[in-house]
Amino acid sequence: MKITIFGSGYVGAITGIGLAKLGHKVEIVDIDKSKISQWNNGTPPIYEIGLLEYLNEYKTSGSISFTTRSSQESKFYFIAVGTPTIEGGNSANLDFVYSALDNIIKVSSKDSIIITKSTVPVGTNKKMQEYVNEVSAGKNLKIVSNPEFLREGNAFSDFFNPDRIVLGSDSLETSKEVSKLYKTLELSSNLTKPIQYLFTDFQSAELIKHASNGFLAIKLSYINDLARYCSLVGADVSDLSKGMGFDPRIGDRFLLPGPGWGGSCFPKDSKELLFSANKVDTDLPVLCAAIESNKAHKVWCGQQISKIAIEKSILKIGILGIAFKAGTDDSRESSAYDLIDILSVNKFELSLHDPKAFDFSNTDLKITNSFNDLMDILDTVEGIVINTEWTEYYNLDWGKILNKDNIKFVIDLRNITPRLEHQNLYRIGYNI
Ligand code: UDX
Repeated sequence: MKITIFGSGYVGAITGIGLAKLGHKVEIVDIDKSKISQWNNGTPPIYEIGLLEYLNEYKTSGSISFTTRSSQESKFYFIAVGTPTIEGGNSANLDFVYSALDNIIKVSSKDSIIITKSTVPVGTNKKMQEYVNEVSAGKNLKIVSNPEFLREGNAFSDFFNPDRIVLGSDSLETSKEVSKLYKTLELSSNLTKPIQYLFTDFQSAELIKHASNGFLAIKLSYINDLARYCSLVGADVSDLSKGMGFDPRIGDRFLLPGPGWGGSCFPKDSKELLFSANKVDTDLPVLCAAIESNKAHKVWCGQQISKIAIEKSILKIGILGIAFKAGTDDSRESSAYDLIDILSVNKFELSLHDPKAFDFSNTDLKITNSFNDLMDILDTVEGIVINTEWTEYYNLDWGKILNKDNIKFVIDLRNITPRLEHQNLYRIGYNI
């Protein structure tokens, strides 16, 4: 089928390339000329494992194209534009969604189907359907909510091996039509589980996305709270997590403590979910507590590092990992920035490393990503903090590093170092 996707960011690009791999002819439209030229000259504006290989394959085969103006007559139009939190507020800015919608109304033909991939607050798709009915009644355009569940760093595997495909609309027939776009997924040998389709209404589809992220955020805040408690009662959070995770009702995933959750989704989605609930005079106290706990946890991590550094009278600290998690170059709402703020206030000299190229121009932080510079950092700093669980850091010889004369502490906020008993090794949820 011919498909047009508005938005060439993370969700639009992964969805577009994924649909091209399923045999569709995909046109990706973005108003940002520089992004489109980056896509067209093979230097995508985002990083994702497998992206370059897929991109080259499907551009060469002509299954995917990037443009600032839609020129393909499609049957299906995806909206995958950003819905950033309104400055200083907690609700989503839907301007880009409606501008894409107006664009689609202009270029689409009768009976086209408009699919909302962007994460939007409950009630948005219903309002979009009412809007298109009003401004383009003759075209019989139908809206379907099809939220994405792509994890950065795992996006293509999540696309090709989805836990569920959720389709919400006021017409089951239209949702079934959209589900056919994913049909060839079922023939793929990579599937490790059958695809679960859920055909539901607009509101439930929108809420499944927000509520899922909210739940995962609550689960993470809980294990981080427990990590701080473990270190005070001589327990080991890694064993706690394993022991809890044996219970299938709890599950062993998303139960690893860290420096606090971040990224472009959890913080935004949890705030918006809370805001939407408050708008109808109800609240979500558990989610609210998880958000507050996460903020406090990030500060607590910074304070623990400062305390140990001051006790050991050291100044030079290396922070390993700026990305909000491994496998991505995305550092939005990364705990690294909280650590940097707190440690800078306490006047520590910081060296920063992250394996993925960072856009240094948009920050005054000097972040290096070369492995040689990482070796220099390990030779010159006095304290090391592991913030992101990059494989590069797993594979370092931590026994040797801990015995270097210049190293007075290694604070592992991801528990990726071996379980060495060393006076200078601090592991979250064990001895801090
Ligand atoms: C999330 C959802 O997982 C995905 O389904 C949704 O579509 C988009 O938002 P993402 O934001 O890419 O995906 O990151 P995710 O892998 O969910 O991690 C979120 C945060 O939790 C990261 O900061 C990560 O470091 C942290 N995390 C995750 C932990 O601290 N411990 C864990 O065990 C897992």
